[in-house]
This record gives sequence, structure tokens and C-alpha cells, in this order.
Amino acid sequence: MKELQGKVALVTGSSTGLGLAIALELGARGASVALNYAHRTDRAEMALANFTSSGAKGALFKADVTEADSVNQLVAEIKQELAPFGITTNLVSPCWIPTDRHQDAPQEHMDSYLQTIPAARWGQPEDVAQAVADFCSPRASFVTGQTLCVNGGRTLS
Ligand SMILES: NC(=O)c1ccc[n+]([C@@H]2O[C@H](COP(=O)([O-])OP(=O)(O)OC[C@H]3O[C@@H](n4cnc5c(N)ncnc54)[C@H](OP(=O)(O)O)[C@@H]3O)[C@@H](O)[C@H]2O)c1
Repeated sequence: MKELQGKVALVTGSSTGLGLAIALELGARGASVALNYAHRTDRAEMALANFTSSGAKGALFKADVTEADSVNQLVAEIKQELAPFGITTNLVSPCWIPTDRHQDAPQEHMDSYLQTIPAARWGQPEDVAQAVADFCSPRASFVTGQTLCVNGGRTLS
């Protein structure tokens, strides 16, 4: 049995980029995933087709999530309330991970940023997705209120 079988995940902003990579990883680990977007239905439907083509279970939900409070404030408020119910609240904090929206980023800007990453490579959306999915694993059920930086060591430099 896959480790997230029977779990349901809502991944906001998951029709492309980091969110899609997270949805794909959670789906691959057995979760049923609600994919979310707000604007581009064509892209979202392609993402869902990509998601379900591997046999993962999921559905698409169009909803604008910009009304939410800041993530840090939300996490601070709910992590203690949810812990007694076995619900963990953790934060994955990536450095710059190039996605479609960075296609026009100036090359010199990218080159200088890359030099600040001790791992000497760009992070991939899948690097972020693995970290998120690991927090969701039953093996991490005693880990809550934590922040994990996925940044190739930039925190150290
Ligand atoms: N990539 C990085 O370097 C990086 C680093 C740190 C943090 N982050 C954060 O991680 C998130 C994802 O980044 P990304 O690079 O993967 O971005 P992205 O490629 O622009 O993906 C944005 C996703 O969010 C959806 N979306 C946009 N506005 C929305 C809204 N109001 N309500 C619901 N969904 C909405 C988009 O779909 P529609 O356009 O169809 O609505 C799309 O699915 C962003 O919040 C970004 O600030 C990114």
C-alpha cells in the first residue's frame, strides 16, 4: 500500500510550477489530490490530464486563494490547535526555483543568483515536492511547527 493511500490533499496553485510538482508527488504516493487554480482553465485541465495519466486520483477546483492571511500568521495560529488531532503544520521554504513564470528572467540575474547556491545547481520543482511529501508522510507524524529550507545550502552562506 502506498504511504498516503486514503489521505486527501488540497494543493493550492497546482496547475503549474511548484504546486503541480507537489500534486504529482502526493498523487504518486497514493493521496487523492484536489488541484487548484484561479485563472487559466486550459492550463489547469492539461495539468489534471497529466496528473491522472499516471493513475493518480484527483479533481480540479477553481478558486481564488488570495483572500487568505499571510502563511506565517496562519501557520502560527493553527499549528497548536491542530496538533492534538494528529494534523501537523509545517512550512517548506524554497529559494528561487525557476518555473515557467521566470522564462524572461535576465540571464545575468540568473547567473549571479546561481553563484549564491552552495549546491552549485538550480533547485527543481521536484526538490520542493519531495520535501512537502515527506512532511505529509506518516513517518513524519511527530514533526510539526517546523520550517524546512529547500535552497541548496543558501541558509548556510
Ligand atoms: N518558484 C520560486 O522560485 C518560488 C520560491 C519561493 C516561493 N515561491 C512561491 O511558491 C508559489 C508557486 O510558485 P511557482 O513559481 O510555481 O508559481 P507559478 O508557476 O506562477 O504557479 C502559480 C500557480 O498558482 C495559481 N494561482 C495564481 N493565482 C492564484 C489565485 N489567486 N488562487 C489560486 N491559484 C492561483 C496558478 O494558476 P492560475 O494562473 O490559473 O490561477 C498556478 O497554478 C508562489 O506562491 C510563489 O510565490 C516560489
